[in-house]
Amino acid sequence: MTATAASPAGMGRQSGHRDRYLLGDSTAEVEHLAHQAEVYAEEAEQLLDLVGVTAGSSAIDVGCGVLGILPLLCARAGPVGRVVGLERETRILDAARQYAAERGLPVEFVQGDATSLDLPSDSFDFVHERTVLLNVQRPAAVIGEMTRIARPGGVIDLQEPDFSSCVCDPPHPAWDPLLAELLAAYRRNGKNFNSGRRIARDLRAAGLTDVQVRVTARLTQPGEYYQTFLLTLTSLMRDQIITGGRLTAADFDAQAESLRAHLAQPGTLTCQPTMLQAWGTKP
Ligand SMILES: C[S@@+](CC[C@H](N)C(=O)[O-])C[C@H]1O[C@@H](n2cnc3c(N)ncnc32)[C@H](O)[C@@H]1O
Repeated sequence: MTATAASPAGMGRQSGHRDRYLLGDSTAEVEHLAHQAEVYAEEAEQLLDLVGVTAGSSAIDVGCGVLGILPLLCARAGPVGRVVGLERETRILDAARQYAAERGLPVEFVQGDATSLDLPSDSFDFVHERTVLLNVQRPAAVIGEMTRIARPGGVIDLQEPDFSSCVCDPPHPAWDPLLAELLAAYRRNGKNFNSGRRIARDLRAAGLTDVQVRVTARLTQPGEYYQTFLLTLTSLMRDQIITGGRLTAADFDAQAESLRAHLAQPGTLTCQPTMLQAWGTKP
């Protein structure tokens, strides 16, 4: 699929929100989100097996990106079910509509802000989000809204990363500084990149019952898409990292180039962020 209204990598328009999506809406981010949906489908399938999304279910993917877990939800909910994709960013939502049309997915798309949903209470059997909480300043507001729109007895589930597992071997001198700059740029914007470790606690705080949590890990090698995940993120955040003042543009580019060459070397392994998955039931 080719995204429409292309803009140069890392130079996408932002939608003007104060709590804007830091990775932007460039073609590079649209393409990255498509990869994310594909690569993380395996973990998502495991989760859906555990929470039991069945034929006829009504399900929503909040902050669905360009695909999220919508294909998996459609396959499980079936023709009598209902699958909604909610996304705030116009250009990402346009790409999502296009991807869904190309795949024949019967998704109802809604544009909206996950912290203040214009959707009725008590309406979904299954309410899901993945990697949205790390991208908002008020994750509790998102969980509160997800809980509100779930029906009593419905399941709310969250998938969020933890970057403490994000390592490279053999070590490279640019890995830790680039990771640290990425986390710092998120912090400067009031966001927590290590959102995964607290999601079970957050669900309990929102009043959900039977809260369960699990973790998945991912190891990558040269040639695999996620081998360069850190570089993908830092490239999307390049301007904001440089604005932080600890790396000049020239330093940033030199470090990124050197790390890219290292990651391509046979034998270089990376452990990607662990993905924590937590789910609970609305009483
Ligand atoms: C890292 S992406 C994840 C996309 C998708 N969940 C997936 O796993 O492939 C985060 C998504 O959340 C969206 N987003 C960020 N803040 C949002 C908000 N307040 N309301 C709705 N969507 C939001 C972004 O536009 C982006 O598409």
